[in-house]
Amino acid sequence: MMIDKKLLDLINRKAKEQQEEEKRNPKQYKCKKCNDTGFKKVVDENGDVRYTNCDCKLREMALKSLEEQHIMDRAKRQLLNNFNVNNVEQQIALNKALEFSQDDKAKGILFLGKVGSGKTHLATACGVQKIIHFTPTIFVNWENMKSELIKYSYDSEEDRERLKSRYKKSAGLFIEDLFKTTPNAKDLSLAYEIINYRYENSLMTIVTSEKTLRQLFDLDSAIAGRLSELAGKYVCEFTNTTDYRMIKANVSK
Ligand SMILES: Nc1ncnc2c1ncn2[C@@H]1O[C@H](COP(=O)(O)OP(=O)(O)OP(=O)(O)O)[C@@H](O)[C@H]1O
Ligand SMILES: [Mg+2]
Ligand SMILES: [Zn+2]
Repeated sequence: MMIDKKLLDLINRKAKEQQEEEKRNPKQYKCKKCNDTGFKKVVDENGDVRYTNCDCKLREMALKSLEEQHIMDRAKRQLLNNFNVNNVEQQIALNKALEFSQDDKAKGILFLGKVGSGKTHLATACGVQKIIHFTPTIFVNWENMKSELIKYSYDSEEDRERLKSRYKKSAGLFIEDLFKTTPNAKDLSLAYEIINYRYENSLMTIVTSEKTLRQLFDLDSAIAGRLSELAGKYVCEFTNTTDYRMIKANVSK
């Protein structure tokens, strides 16, 4: 089809005007690294080109993860820099949490022992640090995980396996209150399956439990052994710390 000369002139003129406008007012990208595409080009040592997620996209994904998991509020309240230290074991736990948060090679941290000693506070802060430093981490309460994967068998086996697989394979996993109630054989077998997979694949795992390491070993030495190996030097145990909730309740009286 012949294109009308007048129309062609108009198109060309518009294109020229647009080019000039862009020269006068260059587009402001929020991210200079990727011009807001979300991807950046990486050239490896062989000269091969790949595209990876840009940091701006990873940051956006991290914030989305905090929101979707409903941990934004906790993330703002339970920080490493508002954890008060009144005794040696709190100081040791805080130091370990600080070091762990900056240790890219760390594969786990355990916060064990007394009720109300700040285990969840420190573990949350560690998990959030990992998320914002680009290790996608799922926060899950042990009892909830059990309910999802054992108790209610309404969903198909396939759905359950898919969900279990998410916990096994997630780059980071924070299991809150492991073995809060005395585990039976099924519970132990589920915990073993998940923890063993993570252990064999060196996947970052954060655990809180009211049990001490000794008690975990007494319950199941295969699980406890794997957790303590994942955590390495990052095992924090509270045996003397007073329940913080009681302290807060007394102060506010
Ligand atoms: N050292 C601390 N400094 C500031 N806040 C603290 C400290 N320890 C605990 N808290 C606060 O006290 C409350 C209870 O602490 P947290 O939930 O972390 O205890 P926990 O050890 O996980 O208890 P539980 O065994 O019942 O799960 C939380 O609101 C937490 O933020
Ligand atoms: Mg807790
Ligand atoms: Zn970017």
